[in-house]
Amino acid sequence: MRRNLRLLSAAMVAARRLLHRTRATLAKEERPEAQVKIALPAPDLAGRMPLEQALAQRRSLREFSGRHLSREELSQLLWAAQGITAPDGRRTAPSASALYALEVYVAAADGFYHYAPAGHELELQSKTDLRPTLYWAAQCRSFLRDAAAIFVIAAVYERIEREYGRERSPLYVHLEAGHAAQNLLLQAVSLGLGGVPVGGFYDDQVGKAVSLPNNEQALYLVAVGHPAAETREGSV
Ligand SMILES: Cc1cc2nc3c(=O)[nH]c(=O)nc-3n(C[C@H](O)[C@H](O)[C@H](O)COP(=O)(O)O)c2cc1C
Repeated sequence: MRRNLRLLSAAMVAARRLLHRTRATLAKEERPEAQVKIALPAPDLAGRMPLEQALAQRRSLREFSGRHLSREELSQLLWAAQGITAPDGRRTAPSASALYALEVYVAAADGFYHYAPAGHELELQSKTDLRPTLYWAAQCRSFLRDAAAIFVIAAVYERIEREYGRERSPLYVHLEAGHAAQNLLLQAVSLGLGGVPVGGFYDDQVGKAVSLPNNEQALYLVAVGHPAAETREGSV
C-alpha cells in the first residue's frame, strides 16, 4: 500500500513537471515573433546633462504628454538600465558577483520587447500594446495608461542563489533591481523625459500579462514618458 502511494506521488510529481515544461513550450510557441530581433542605435556616452543636475531634477513624474519615445531614447534608457560596458560583459548597474539576475522588458504602443544586453537589441515578444493590461495589473494607476513606455524589471533568483543561497539572494536581487531602476530614472531625466518607479502591482497578474517565463519574477515597473508640461520649469 505504502509502495503504491509512493509510486502515485512520484507519478504526480512527474506529471506536474511535464505540465510546467509544456506550458513553457507553449508560451514560446504562442510568441512566434520572439525571435525577431531589432537592433538599437548605439548609446550616447557623452550625454547632455551633468549627473548632479539629473540627481537634483529627478522627481517621480506621473503626468505624461502621450508622445512616443524615439528609438534613440528607448536605446539610451535600456542601456542605462542594463547595458554592457566592458568586454567581460559587466554592465551599467552593479550585480552581486556579476551574476546578473535581471531581465528587462519594455511595453510600448507597438509591442512588448525583451532587452538583450549582449547585442544591445530588442527581442519582439508580442505585437500587442500591453500597457493597458499592465495598467489593470498595477491597480489602475492612470499614469501607466499614459506612459510612453512601461519597463518591467524581472529577476531570475536562481542565478544568485547558486552562489549565495536562498537566504541572502533575495536581498541581492532586490538591491540590483534598485540600481537598474535608478539608472533608468536618471537617464530619463537627462533625456528630458520623466518616470516613476512602481512597486504597487499584483505580481502574478503582471507576470501573466506579459507572459514572463516561469523562472522570472516581476519586481519593479518603471513608467517613462515625455512630461505633460514639457516647458514647465521643474516639471520633471
Ligand atoms: C520601491 C518603490 C515603490 C514605489 N511604488 C510606487 C507605486 O506603486 N506607485 C506610485 O505612484 N509611486 C511609487 N513609488 C514612487 C514614490 O511614491 C516616490 O518615489 C516618492 O513619493 C518620493 O517622490 P519622488 O520620487 O518624486 O522623489 C515607489 C517608489 C519606490 C522606491
